[in-house]
Amino acid sequence: MTETKRSFYVTTPIYYANAKPHLGHLYTTLVADTLTRFWRQRGIDSFFLTGTDERGVNIERAAAARGIPVQQHVDEIVGEFQETFRVFNIEYSRWIRTTDAFHKEGVQNLWRHLDERGFIYRGEYKGWFCVYCNEFKEVEERAEQPLCPTHERPLEIVAEESYFFKLSGFGDRLLKLYESRPEFVQPESRRNEVIAFVAGGLRDFSISRISVKWGIEVPGDPRHTIYVWFDALANYITALGWGNRSFQDFDRFWPALHLVGKDILRFHAVYWPALLMAAGIEVPRTVFAHGMWHSGGRKMSKTLGNVIDLYALRKYFTPDQVRYFCLREMVFGRDGDFTYEALIDRVNADLAAGLGNLSSRTLTMVRAYCGNRIPLSASNAGNEFGSEAGEVRQAVGQAVAQFEREFERYSFSLGLEAVWAAMSRVDKFITDAQPWELAKSPEKHETLNHVLCTALEAVRHLAVILAPVLPEGSQAVWQQLGQSGKVCEFGPARLRWGGLTAGGEIGEIKAIFPRMDKGKIMEEIKLDEPAARSAEGRAEGKGNQAPTAALSVVPPEAVAESESGGDGIISIEEFARVDMRVGTVLTAERIPKADKLLKLTVDIGAEVRQVLAGIALYYEPESLIGQKVVVVTNLAPRKMRGLDSNGMIVAASVGPEGRPVIVTFKEDVPNGARLK
Ligand code: MSP
Repeated sequence: MTETKRSFYVTTPIYYANAKPHLGHLYTTLVADTLTRFWRQRGIDSFFLTGTDERGVNIERAAAARGIPVQQHVDEIVGEFQETFRVFNIEYSRWIRTTDAFHKEGVQNLWRHLDERGFIYRGEYKGWFCVYCNEFKEVEERAEQPLCPTHERPLEIVAEESYFFKLSGFGDRLLKLYESRPEFVQPESRRNEVIAFVAGGLRDFSISRISVKWGIEVPGDPRHTIYVWFDALANYITALGWGNRSFQDFDRFWPALHLVGKDILRFHAVYWPALLMAAGIEVPRTVFAHGMWHSGGRKMSKTLGNVIDLYALRKYFTPDQVRYFCLREMVFGRDGDFTYEALIDRVNADLAAGLGNLSSRTLTMVRAYCGNRIPLSASNAGNEFGSEAGEVRQAVGQAVAQFEREFERYSFSLGLEAVWAAMSRVDKFITDAQPWELAKSPEKHETLNHVLCTALEAVRHLAVILAPVLPEGSQAVWQQLGQSGKVCEFGPARLRWGGLTAGGEIGEIKAIFPRMDKGKIMEEIKLDEPAARSAEGRAEGKGNQAPTAALSVVPPEAVAESESGGDGIISIEEFARVDMRVGTVLTAERIPKADKLLKLTVDIGAEVRQVLAGIALYYEPESLIGQKVVVVTNLAPRKMRGLDSNGMIVAASVGPEGRPVIVTFKEDVPNGARLK
């Protein structure tokens, strides 16, 4: 929020429409959603923008790999994103698609505007380009083809006529901006990186492509399309109606808080404010760069194939559980590692044993000892637990205030930690006061009422304050307390200790955050994941049983037929019976109604084989095309989903969930070469 303006505008990056969403995408979106709920509950006019980035060479290629028209491809992916965000209870204000007509109009107007002001010229650009990042990469001069540091895929040389934006003239103005407004780039460590980058000197920024057809035409030169990052960044203003007549929200909401992953900070903290300065538009309020979720120790990304699938996540966990975990577990701005085990532990410790238990034990006592009604209590009863009750009230008050402060500065985990510390204090108070003992003596009823009212007040405060983080759980607690209306509309500023009306009836008590059976759920999750079986989709075999990483090379059939004893040792002759060949993936596609299988055709030198592999949850089909793989070629053919599989792709089975990592080669190896 700005000092001068009582409005809040938050954006997420717009997500590439080239593959289905994963936890990395959900993360930024659920933080934006939480912040919007936070400010809205405090009466601030709020707007939350998210959407999809649908242009550029990468999208073109993803559609080509699927063999469908680009528009159909992006429509399908956008549908998946929207549906996923819906089932995770994300309530955005507007969804922008860069294929929307109003966006195109806005982007072309921004271009014209910059051109008229003299900030665009024509030249030639040549450099190493990563099609997955959609950007040119700065790499050291070397003879061989360098790899993208993010995706570890080969870079391509791109040289073509291009229009440029005169970024080089903006160094001083940008440095002044970072200097005078330290909150502009956050967190501090990222701000320092950005300052160092700009201080090192800026080069003009190439903003058009001749080679890319799937893009917005450059005004006045239809041979060129507008570079996808120029197009994408502009979404933050076109979505409010800048440069088009579809919306009139620009004056009401701009400038924005941009939430972005640290991998795309430079675009947002350097290129974007420079473009806006050149256009004479106010720069954003803040660009906050968060860290990366890792899984299995590596950044989670579709290209690396280790993403946490949101369909599986939603199948076992509620939106509140996932949201709480993400906000509590990861310090906003730093990296974090995702494991299902850690998620279940948090759910059990903090939600089931914490908030859920506190709320249900308090309400159950109200039902048992007070006839389902909020008891009447003198506000500072001079009873034996009077001073402890005072401490509880103070602890809750302080936690509420700290939660506010921490959320205002994006320290979500600290804010939640403070609230949970207060919760423990309330729990201890109940345990010390032993209401179940007080209830036995009629002369202690006043004390009992005071203890229960204190606990009820604490729970009510927690429900209000946690509404942005646990929208469903907080509302359920609110109703069980017998409160009417929506807790998300109850501004924390209205919270008064003693605000509960004596005599009010409490609602039906239901478990809000049930405990999860970790062992059982982990088993189910593993069974769901094809990798726990193998890269070929067969039943569990010997090769997959190692706990951390194992190569699933030996088919169970071969082991069963072996003459060896039970010690697992095989002879060289037995090993030689397995024929493994180098191959290149020619085509890769999903199989309708088989979430886990990919259909591949692989050139193994002497022939082209069709192989079905159970890796669809971990690899995007298009990322496999052209990849060298190892195929077990003398495995008996089998049918799956009515399709023939004639071979097995060799993969390591990594981590407890058995994520498949396909075996490949550093050097160029010809197809058909045998492994021995
Ligand atoms: N289309 C561009 C953004 C344009 S914004 C004008 C883009 N798209 S993306 O789909 O590749 O990534 C979107 C966001 O997801 C980025 O902020 C990126 O950092 C984030 N994440 C991708 N993987 C992530 C994790 N493993 N963890 C956390 N966030 C991650 O870049």
